[in-house]
Amino acid sequence: MGADSREADVTRAAAARMYDYFLGGKDNYAVDRDAAAEVEKHYPAVGVMARSNRDFMHRSVRWLAAEAGIDQFLDIGTGIPTEPNLHQIAQDVLPAARVVYVDNDPIVMAYARALLTSQQGRTAYIDADVRRVRDILDAPQLRETLDLSRPVALTMIALMHFVPDTAGAHGLVTELLAALPRGSYLAMSQATADFDPVAIGEAVRIYAQRGLTPQVRSHAEFSRFFAGLDLVEPGVVPPHRWRAGIEPPDSLDAEVNFYAAVARK
Ligand SMILES: C[S@@+](CC[C@H](N)C(=O)[O-])C[C@H]1O[C@@H](n2cnc3c(N)ncnc32)[C@H](O)[C@@H]1O
Repeated sequence: MGADSREADVTRAAAARMYDYFLGGKDNYAVDRDAAAEVEKHYPAVGVMARSNRDFMHRSVRWLAAEAGIDQFLDIGTGIPTEPNLHQIAQDVLPAARVVYVDNDPIVMAYARALLTSQQGRTAYIDADVRRVRDILDAPQLRETLDLSRPVALTMIALMHFVPDTAGAHGLVTELLAALPRGSYLAMSQATADFDPVAIGEAVRIYAQRGLTPQVRSHAEFSRFFAGLDLVEPGVVPPHRWRAGIEPPDSLDAEVNFYAAVARK
């Protein structure tokens, strides 16, 4: 089955389904569990990473809604629905919040119905690849759901380590932000080899063998995504250190192997 097929390819591991497995979900196949088990062999704490990242999504979205008053979200690299989903968190604070979800994996689209039920606000789903920014910005679902003359939070959580620099990763983020007005936000997280290079090196090898084009980034490389924006305190930190309200042990950094940040345009 070709990479552009819109049917889920159950013969090849998929990032969305492997992540679902790491979070303890059930929406994955044997091929995903085999790949995930190989990652776990070299990186036993990968489940801690997934949980810590997901918790960052919860906290950052709650902060964006509650503290920054953001009621519009463009979430790219949504993943398989996992409660609470982003719109449920945003709408818990601001019931009229609107969310546009974007993913390029047909398995996510197959489950997207779970993302599309709102009490008061509104959600929409776009089946698109972040490497084709125009497909996202020109999608009617985007303009029908979000008012791009008002601030939007662009959330790219655990996405950009699947977009290498050779695919113009930083330029894609710049192009997306250029479509959003001043006062918009960027919330992002991604994997790094800064803390446990051996385990992450093995994980990169396992993903790459399956054609999943991983690129981990250093603190400096990840920080470049936020160039020209105002970083929200505490800046670029491992996700469990972003406004978690507790001081985690230093050893957690080498289990989580991620960076996260939120910044304002
Ligand atoms: C690790 S999951 C993260 C899910 C969710 N954002 C979270 O952090 O809980 C990464 C998601 O990005 C999606 N993805 C990977 N490459 C993509 C691309 N080029 N365009 C759009 N989505 C992509 C995968 O299909 C997957 O659903």
